Amino acid sequence: LTRPIQIAIDGPAAAGKSTIAKIVAEQLGYIYIDTGAMYRAITLKALNEGINMASNEEAGALLMKTEIDLQPSENGQLVFLDKKNVTEAIRSQHVTKAVSEMAAHELVRIRMVELQQQLAEGRGVVMDGRDIGTHVLPNAALKVFMSASVEERARRRFEENKKRNIETPLEELQDEIAKRDKMDSEREVAPLKKADDAIFIDTTSLTIQQAADEILTLAKERLS
Ligand code: CDP
Ligand code: CDP
Repeated sequence: LTRPIQIAIDGPAAAGKSTIAKIVAEQLGYIYIDTGAMYRAITLKALNEGINMASNEEAGALLMKTEIDLQPSENGQLVFLDKKNVTEAIRSQHVTKAVSEMAAHELVRIRMVELQQQLAEGRGVVMDGRDIGTHVLPNAALKVFMSASVEERARRRFEENKKRNIETPLEELQDEIAKRDKMDSEREVAPLKKADDAIFIDTTSLTIQQAADEILTLAKERLS
């Protein structure tokens, strides 16, 4: 039996990271960890409690008294915030628009990275986010940086929303995605950035299966 590896997948919003990471994890029998869900969960709580999102100290203090739990299930990862299932609630446009401000705070990131490293310790894991290859799992055996054109990424979100009966105009989605990418890339602490040793995959004209297969091939090379 070969030792399981850690796989880090980073990239901008709606590039296909979570969809593809889930397939790769399933194929390898690894756990899948969506780190974006953790930043979304603390953002939801801050919005509910009226915390000042601009304050690193307030955000950090809030996180210290918050319990965020990720649990695998048949329909993907379930997210619990202080024991309450928030899997759906964290995907709202309200949370999406606020999350990058919350995620920029150093006190928030220090704690999140700690939690993520604990979750990954000693196991086969596929983890997706923005800083996984650069900060959370710097020694991951396989690092992927996944992207696609902003038009294609907005179109994908639009189609996904349609299935859930959410009708945000395409232009608004594209604008929100571009804004979030900019904030995530330009923040001071652990910005969205391709790790030097990450493999770049442009999924603009790839199907989900094609992208997953590319990563699985790379993973099998690392495993053998
Ligand atoms: O699914 P989507 O691409 O829309 O976003 P996500 O992966 O759920 O991440 C939501 C936000 O959390 C990102 O826009 C980042 O601001 C933040 N994030 C982060 O800073 N670091 C991570 N490792 C993951 C997410
Ligand atoms: O996790 P991230 O925000 O990077 O993206 P995602 O939530 O996995 O993917 C966004 C949407 O694009 C999903 O509805 C996927 O089914 C879709 N997608 C696609 O149509 N083609 C791909 N090659 C990858 C994802």
